[in-house]
Amino acid sequence: MKRSRVNEILREGDSFIRSFGYLLPPFAYFDPAEMQRRRGELAAVIDGRLGWDITDYGQERFDELGLFLVTVRNGMAGDLARGRGMLYAEKIMISRKDQLSPMHRHVVKAEDIINRGGGKLVLELFMSDAAGDPDAEAEVSVTTDGVPRTLPAGGLLALDTGESVTLLPGVWHAFWGEGADVLIGEVSTVNDDLTDNVFREPIGRFSTIEEDEAPLHLLVSDYERLLTK
Ligand SMILES: [Fe+2]
Repeated sequence: MKRSRVNEILREGDSFIRSFGYLLPPFAYFDPAEMQRRRGELAAVIDGRLGWDITDYGQERFDELGLFLVTVRNGMAGDLARGRGMLYAEKIMISRKDQLSPMHRHVVKAEDIINRGGGKLVLELFMSDAAGDPDAEAEVSVTTDGVPRTLPAGGLLALDTGESVTLLPGVWHAFWGEGADVLIGEVSTVNDDLTDNVFREPIGRFSTIEEDEAPLHLLVSDYERLLTK
């Protein structure tokens, strides 16, 4: 993906988020030079991988297969191991109309996926079989805003604005916006996108960026490459 396209998606996403009255934290608007200058002070942001995350899953078809995310808070894996402390994370995301976030599950993370506004949010769901693969037969059991729901394997769950679903580790999910772009909230266990995503198809989690202009803001996937300690 070209950096110019990433910058364009970032501007569009920022204005879409603002249109719902949701404002991002200050670190989202630091430019790369400020991130570098304040590298030490911003360890919790940079090492926690808070910030912009625009991905085409390495497939170069963002409009059909992609997701816009900002990780706005993230706890610590060490706290998770200890069973106390900052065990949670929050993201704000945008699925564009008919833009697929591909089928995946998490090993550790439980997540509430919340429709915060815009179109319908549609999720395709499977349970895991004994090998951890999507179970083509098993009925899917999830909780939607505290209410148990069952769906057939591969069933579609449509969430309107204000509705959410709790996805426990092992529940396979893919999702997209229906009718219009949709603003999505995620409230979850501590998030580690480097190790905790299992995709059904062999794809990457992050984009490969071709630097054709300067980054407006760094993506979390830029931190290691573009910031020095
Ligand atoms: Fe997920």
